[in-house]
Amino acid sequence: MRTVHTIKELRALLNSHRQHGHRIGLVPTMGNLHTGHISLVEKALQQADTVVTSIFVNPMQFGANEDLDSYPRTLRDDQEKLEAAGNHIVFAPSAEEVYPNGLAQQTQVCVPVVSEGHCGASRPGHFDGVSTVVSMLFNMVQPDVAVFGEKDFQQLAVIRKMVGDLFMPIEIVGAPTHREEDGLARSSRNGYLSKQERQQAPVIYQALKATADALGQGHSDFAALEAEAKKKLSEAGLRPDYYNIVNSLTLKPAQPEDQQLTILAAAFLGTTRLIDNLSVNR
Ligand code: PAF
Repeated sequence: MRTVHTIKELRALLNSHRQHGHRIGLVPTMGNLHTGHISLVEKALQQADTVVTSIFVNPMQFGANEDLDSYPRTLRDDQEKLEAAGNHIVFAPSAEEVYPNGLAQQTQVCVPVVSEGHCGASRPGHFDGVSTVVSMLFNMVQPDVAVFGEKDFQQLAVIRKMVGDLFMPIEIVGAPTHREEDGLARSSRNGYLSKQERQQAPVIYQALKATADALGQGHSDFAALEAEAKKKLSEAGLRPDYYNIVNSLTLKPAQPEDQQLTILAAAFLGTTRLIDNLSVNR
C-alpha cells in the first residue's frame, strides 16, 4: 500500500494503474477509521481493481463552533487498518494542498434543495463544504466508482444529485450502516461519548426501529410518530435535533401514499451530535 500526500504524486501513481487498464475506486473519509469505513473499502475492492482511500479532515464542512480542531487525526492507525483490508493507495493531503488559496477564495459546489433541511438546516454551509471537497476529490482521483456510507443518508443523496446534475462519469455506491451489537451506528464521533452517554446512545436506534415498525404496519400519522420518538429520546436524556420521516428519494416530508420512507434522526448527547436513519418500504 502506498501513502501519498500531494495531488502530483497521486496522479503519477494513478496513471500507472490506469495504464494497466485498472478500474479505480475511491472511498472518501476524514480518517479515524472504524469497521464501518473498512466495510466501504471492502465494497470498493469488489467494484474496482485499484482502491484509493482519501483521509482529509475537510475544514470547509465544519461550522465555527464545531469539532474541527478536536476531530481525531490517527493516520498511523488508519494506515494499518487500510493495509490489512487490502486498500491500495492512501491519499492524505494537507489543508494547504487542497485549498492553496485558502477557504475564502475557494470555488464552491452547492447542491440546492436536497442539501436543505435536516442536517443542512442544523449545520448551515455543511453540505456546500461536503459537495465542494467531494467534487475536488473526484477531480483529483478521477475514480470510476466511489463508495459512501448510508449512515450519512442526506450526504449520499447530495452526492448522487451532484454527480447527476454535473454529468460526472462516476458510479456512486451506498454501503449499509455498520452497527454495534446494541444497535448504535458506528461513527468516529462515538469516541467522544462518556461511559454513561455510550449507554444512553442506543436509544436512537431503538426509536428508529419503533417508528419503522409502526410505519411498516401502515401507520401514517407521521407527526405523531415523530413526536413520540422525540419524547422517547428526551426521556432517555438526549436532546433531539431533528427526527423527520421523509420520502427516501426527495427527502421531503413523507406523504401517506409514499412507499419508500426514511426516518432521519439527529440528537445531542452532551456536546456530541449523533445521526442515524432507517428506511422502510411499504
Ligand atoms: O463522510 C465523510 O467522512 C465526509 O463528509 C467526506 C465524504 C469524506 C467529505 O469530507
